[in-house]
Amino acid sequence: MQEKAWEKEYQKPKLVTGGDEPQTSVRDFVRFLRKEEKVNLDGLRVLDLGSGGGKNSIYLAEHGALVTGMEISSTAIEKARARVRELELPVPSVTFLKHSIGEPYPFPDNSFDLLLDVTSSNSLDQSERAVYLKECHRVLAPHGHFFVRTLCKDGDENAKNLLKQNPGPEPETYYMPELDLFERVWSREDFLATYSPLFIIQSLEKSTQYTRFNNRSYKRNFWLAYLVKG
Ligand SMILES: C[S@@+](CC[C@H](N)C(=O)[O-])C[C@H]1O[C@@H](n2cnc3c(N)ncnc32)[C@H](O)[C@@H]1O
Repeated sequence: MQEKAWEKEYQKPKLVTGGDEPQTSVRDFVRFLRKEEKVNLDGLRVLDLGSGGGKNSIYLAEHGALVTGMEISSTAIEKARARVRELELPVPSVTFLKHSIGEPYPFPDNSFDLLLDVTSSNSLDQSERAVYLKECHRVLAPHGHFFVRTLCKDGDENAKNLLKQNPGPEPETYYMPELDLFERVWSREDFLATYSPLFIIQSLEKSTQYTRFNNRSYKRNFWLAYLVKG
């Protein structure tokens, strides 16, 4: 678990942006849920994995969902809770819990209708990822949805350079010395091999975005995956 590195990052941000707006890809996914899947957000039970400063959790809570954010950085959780107080959101609509997404989850089977993993699980190691996959499948209700945004290797020159220059201890990982952080990237085949044994893949799209890091802009590719528990 890379708690120390993430804690440091939230205390003195170099990578994460402090914005309160939800990820565009989360907005698009919510639109898809409502329009195409006819999902009613009112009372929808959502688990936000690695909820950070809470922007995606809060967005869903503002649309009527009952959201639990799970996060390892205490500073990020404090920030998210402060934002909830500032917005005066009703207390049960969004709560934040300090817990690793790579350790068994403190929830009964089928407790959630929707899981969000917005660029969080790429910080897990192999054994944590095995727990994450098993637990996500266990706590998601049948036919529940799962949105994953994660780092993509295909066509990403920055990812390929990092893999070559700073390889991490596990396959497809690299080390970022400025952050003291390891990250995992996925090819399409690799992503499918990881998720498709447990989830139905509704869609898997590549999206290119610019990430700001240490006041420089890097072109990075991300997978945006819409999954369902069969
Ligand atoms: C790139 S940030 C994304 C935050 C948030 N999902 C968003 O879209 O704003 C990755 C987040 O995952 C959290 N994280 C990393 N490893 C974690 C773990 N093992 N358990 C819980 N959270 C974790 C980090 O602290 C960080 O908040």
